[in-house]
Amino acid sequence: MEYLEITGGNRLRGSVPIGGAKNAALPIMAASILVEGETVLHNVPDLADVRLMQTILGRLGVTAQRDDTGAMRLRVEDEMNVHAEYELVSKMRASVCVMGPLLAKRKRAQVSMPGGCAIGDRPIGLHIDGLKALGAEFELVNGDVLLRAKKLTAREIFLGGPFGSSVTATANVLMAATLADGRTIIESAACEPEIVDLAEYLNKCGAQIRGHGTPEIVVDGVDALKGAEHRVIPDRIEAGTFMIAAAITNGDLELEHARVEHMRAVVDQLRRVGVLIERAEKGISVSSSRRLEPVAITTQPYPGFPTDLQAQVMALLSLADGNSMITEKIFPDRFLHVAELNRMGARLRKEGPTVIVEGVKRLIGAPVMASDLRASAALILAGLIAKGKTRMQRVYHIDRGYERIEEKLVAVGADIVRRQAD
Ligand code: EPU
Repeated sequence: MEYLEITGGNRLRGSVPIGGAKNAALPIMAASILVEGETVLHNVPDLADVRLMQTILGRLGVTAQRDDTGAMRLRVEDEMNVHAEYELVSKMRASVCVMGPLLAKRKRAQVSMPGGCAIGDRPIGLHIDGLKALGAEFELVNGDVLLRAKKLTAREIFLGGPFGSSVTATANVLMAATLADGRTIIESAACEPEIVDLAEYLNKCGAQIRGHGTPEIVVDGVDALKGAEHRVIPDRIEAGTFMIAAAITNGDLELEHARVEHMRAVVDQLRRVGVLIERAEKGISVSSSRRLEPVAITTQPYPGFPTDLQAQVMALLSLADGNSMITEKIFPDRFLHVAELNRMGARLRKEGPTVIVEGVKRLIGAPVMASDLRASAALILAGLIAKGKTRMQRVYHIDRGYERIEEKLVAVGADIVRRQAD
């Protein structure tokens, strides 16, 4: 088993290239199922989750390969199979994004129901309700969602759930609606930049989508979509993670390609904490003099503060000068990092969906266990400033969503090494 060994204390300085967004690339890759001819995607990050999506698409008859330039070329070769099996879906929830495209293009979709995961329950009722509203028949067979429809018929669909909008449910219904008969209106649609990117790719393929980026998306169905070339947006969560890396190490980083307009809530909160953030020539520059003010943060759907940065900001606030409060409104159980950060000397107390963060003077290196992708990012951030060595086990979690993380960190001065356990 591999682990990461981080020796804390180095200030990070320099420039970090921010890669393509995982959560934009995955649904766009799935959308290629809808399309005739070749799709060429630039800026697809090289991640374990992306490789898994390539495997899933491969089983569904779609070739998805990198060319010499690193671009990913996708093409549907065979439309026979419509089954995304448990063995693959259980490894990555974003696999459910093949459901809408399979149903719309191949008239059937059989997708294993993803189980719970480390960050909570994660139901897919909204995906199914949305696709049923477009006319699909639904059955649950051996733990698989089976959807069938000879043709999809446009409808007005309300996609709000108990925790607000759903990103991948919006993606699924949006993708299916591109080939439905008539005008679909999705109300309470997710407004995340990743949904906007998906809609922009689909429009390049000939879809008729308006209103993406707002809670009301209007889709006029078309008969067919044709392959297109598209560049995936930069990853705002990777950018946010490196912003916090600069802040926590008292450093000075330029985040190349990062887009302020995708990160307003994060920039606003980090500025309140005392972090200096400016637009820079190539992206965003971030520096800190490490006097950190405590703040109250609540995660929300976009444009609110993202749940995918909740763990990382908790690592930062554990060093603030006073008590902070972090409330998780998207995944109320997404707190497995709390106990691990406490092992490093943080003072965190969970009360329901809220964590009270009592600021401490220093964190201390310790052996810790990553529980999920963003929790592992938080532990690395804590390790960068902790006194002594932090050894993080279960490195595969970080490899799902951060491309060459230790390489990027080492390039700006961090002491972090990947090692093989005996
Ligand atoms: N929800 C329902 N019913 C549903 C679907 C969702 O009640 O049918 C609830 C969820 O339980 C949650 C809320 O709605 O409380 C929002 O979940 P959402 O469906 O938006 O999450 P997701 O689409 O499964 C995506 C990202 C996650 C990110 C969330 C929230 C992808 C591939 N995944 O998941 O990313 O945390 O949106 O922003 O886009 C990550 O990258 O680490 C990650 C977990």
